[in-house]
Amino acid sequence: MKKSLAITLLLAGTLGAVSAQAIDTKARFMAANCAYCHGPEGKSRGAIPSLAGLEQKYFVEQMKAFRDGSRPATVMQKHAMGYTDAEFEQLGAWFSAIK
Ligand code: HEC
Repeated sequence: MKKSLAITLLLAGTLGAVSAQAIDTKARFMAANCAYCHGPEGKSRGAIPSLAGLEQKYFVEQMKAFRDGSRPATVMQKHAMGYTDAEFEQLGAWFSAIK
């Protein structure tokens, strides 16, 4: 009885770690699409704003505003169209964690 509980907890812990890593990999993959303009790791070297260190809440709000057209954009509406709210959250978490 005790042993099976231990195994269950062990499994739960392992699965948790795997899914967190999967999200991480997905966020990294999505963020790579932004690097061409916003710089590697979201650190821009030009006129385009950096994404690194932006607050997640601010980031998600801007992406939604680009997508629905309430924030005027040259290219960002096209990019924002391709992502879901959940993906904005993941991207926001990813960029906000970069120092
Ligand atoms: C082709 C170049 C290009 C690509 C690729 C691109 N962006 Fe942008 N981004 C811009 C430009 C230019 C702006 C300024 C607003 C505008 O003119 O569209 C901007 C603005 C932003 C802003 C607002 C920043 C602020 O400080 O308010 C966010 C957030 C953003 N981009 C996120 C992203 C994300 C996330 C991706 C990848 C999914 C991405 N961008 C891909 C060019 C790009």
